[in-house]
Amino acid sequence: MNSASNTMRAAEFDGYGPASVMQVRVVPRPAPAPGEALVRVHASTVNPIDTIVRSGVLKWRTGKVFPKRIGIDFAGEIVDAGSDPRGLKPGDRVWGVMPLELEKGEGQGSAADYVTISTSRLAKSPAALDFVQAAALSSVGAVAIIALVDKARLQAGERLLVRGGAGGVGSAAIQLGRQLGAHVTALGSGKDLDFLRELGADTALDYRTTDPNTLPPFDVILDLAGTDLGAYRRRLGPQGRMYCLAVKSLGALLYFQFSKIYGSKRVTFFSAAPLGPTMAALADLVDQGAVRAIVDSVYPLEDIALAQASVEAGGGRGKRVLAHTGA
Ligand SMILES: NC(=O)c1ccc[n+]([C@@H]2O[C@H](COP(=O)([O-])OP(=O)(O)OC[C@H]3O[C@@H](n4cnc5c(N)ncnc54)[C@H](OP(=O)(O)O)[C@@H]3O)[C@@H](O)[C@H]2O)c1
Repeated sequence: MNSASNTMRAAEFDGYGPASVMQVRVVPRPAPAPGEALVRVHASTVNPIDTIVRSGVLKWRTGKVFPKRIGIDFAGEIVDAGSDPRGLKPGDRVWGVMPLELEKGEGQGSAADYVTISTSRLAKSPAALDFVQAAALSSVGAVAIIALVDKARLQAGERLLVRGGAGGVGSAAIQLGRQLGAHVTALGSGKDLDFLRELGADTALDYRTTDPNTLPPFDVILDLAGTDLGAYRRRLGPQGRMYCLAVKSLGALLYFQFSKIYGSKRVTFFSAAPLGPTMAALADLVDQGAVRAIVDSVYPLEDIALAQASVEAGGGRGKRVLAHTGA
């Protein structure tokens, strides 16, 4: 890609299907509107939502407009920030999360060499992280902050359960839970139990062999699995709160509504949309040494289909990252 040209590479797909529908094409480079920055993306990641959208499971919502772009998070460098009131300027290393515009076929994705994005969604990325590491932590770290700090208001001494501890969000949530002074229990694959303890879990359990009915009560449950919601809800203590980020079925959506009406313990689903202050708070946590990036593997942007297939196969630790520039 020629940095002086008006074109760039972007990952797109022309119809729903398996990972092999992904294409990397040369497309026009976007131009920033007032209030937006043009960011040169050096790395992005594959998130489960990308594979869910691409598969067509959500086509009732994502519609029939093609081609569609893909990718929500990125680490990169400001090319043009206009007259940003917060002082972001060309050359600044930033990270951010794109607005999730599922319905828009013409919406941008971060799996592209450039994105335009409101400067309110950006913050400077930590100096200690390279672009691959920054991308790996960007959205999952921000989601962990929104879940445990903003929503759950997790307190020191409380008991936290993270279901899906070795994945992207889970690996960040374990570290953050530990930093907040919680007693952290993590559920993950049997092969990952040592890894979960290294991240800061006080107790690590194999999700395939653990009966939820044998678990102690928890103050906060962060559910990244989206199954057996009733059984885990029953593990909530008197002040317990449960947040489920993975919607695996229409039944789960109905269950969230049901839990608002019946019983004292609510199961809350939310869709995280991190803005600049959350990205800045995440950078502070990295600077303090409280949270680190977990990179499972790195793929060139052209191999996005392989990276998506790897996410769909499961069994990873942390994030599959797309390196756009070899950085
Ligand atoms: N609502 C939102 O705003 C939001 C934001 C971010 C993510 N999410 C959703 O949250 C979920 C997790 O995201 P992620 O990025 O962390 O995904 P991920 O990196 O794929 O991690 C998922 C983890 O869950 C583990 N797992 C699978 N089944 C499990 C079970 N029954 N019990 C415990 N752990 C289990 C997997 O282990 P193995 O692979 O070893 O089986 C994997 O480590 C996804 O569904 C994603 O779409 C939602």
